[in-house]
Amino acid sequence: MSDEAMDAVTRDDHGTPPGTTSVALGDRAGLHRGAPTGEPLLAATDLVAGYLPGVNILNGCDLVLHPGELIGIIGPNGAGKSTLLKALFGLVNVRSGSVTLGGEDITNLRADHLVQRGVGFVPQNNNVFPSLTIEENLQMGAFQAPRKFAERFAFVAELFPTLGERRRQRAGSLSGGERQMVAMARALMMEPSVLLLDEPSAGLSPVKQDETFLRTRKINKAGVSVVIVEQNARRALQICDRGYVLDQGRNAYSGPGRQLMHDPKVIELYLGTLATDVEAAATHAPLIPPAEKS
Ligand SMILES: Nc1ncnc2c1ncn2[C@@H]1O[C@H](COP(=O)(O)OP(=O)(O)O)[C@@H](O)[C@H]1O
Ligand SMILES: [Mg+2]
Repeated sequence: MSDEAMDAVTRDDHGTPPGTTSVALGDRAGLHRGAPTGEPLLAATDLVAGYLPGVNILNGCDLVLHPGELIGIIGPNGAGKSTLLKALFGLVNVRSGSVTLGGEDITNLRADHLVQRGVGFVPQNNNVFPSLTIEENLQMGAFQAPRKFAERFAFVAELFPTLGERRRQRAGSLSGGERQMVAMARALMMEPSVLLLDEPSAGLSPVKQDETFLRTRKINKAGVSVVIVEQNARRALQICDRGYVLDQGRNAYSGPGRQLMHDPKVIELYLGTLATDVEAAATHAPLIPPAEKS
């Protein structure tokens, strides 16, 4: 899909608030400038976390997700993006700092408890059971609430018609894009209020990547607040309300997606490959309407 086409489907419903700019996060007070005000749905404050004793991978991460938002996390390989999602989902030990959901402390709560509280997580790899059918995979997603299965299956089959049509097909025989649908659908079976997605477009063709981003928007529009970690920074920033740039376990920048995408510092320091994309786009077709560029 062209940038213009992607823009047409993603633009305006979450337009960049006028006058907002991305902020370098040395300025902690300005950390969430541009973010909606009000009670956050999910908030991580000053997270320090790691796998091995004495080695911290997250070195003071902050993140705020407001109800209804779609936020993106981008940054170089090894920056700690996956670790941040795992820390939010109780899969890596948080050594200091806190995670709250709806104002309640959920720091280091077990993943299955978080699922019950309405958090869904789609890991980047090994996110389906290949020997099970699509339907069985979705049953696994709903095992904590089997009585909801039929209703939730209908919901995900509407979002992903292919899954309904092929419910008896084994997940192992599906394409990468279809498996990614199964993984997202499985996480949606428990009717999460927050969905955490780790690089859902990785390994997919450009067309399938675009489908994944549009599907993510659709899920978000269906009322699920989303945190998406992405290697395809340009697309991620195009669809998200706000983005965070993570570097070495710290937030480096944050701001409205479209603003970050055009922030020369962000491009120069973190989005080397994006710089060429943006330049190319500037000479051919603008990614965002000129009015929003300021
Ligand atoms: N299970 C693990 N045990 C030890 N170190 C890990 C583990 N997973 C990731 N790391 C380390 O944590 C750092 C951040 O990794 P990760 O969060 O996967 O980064 P990103 O998702 O941004 O590429 C890397 O240095 C990586 O080697
Ligand atoms: Mg990762």
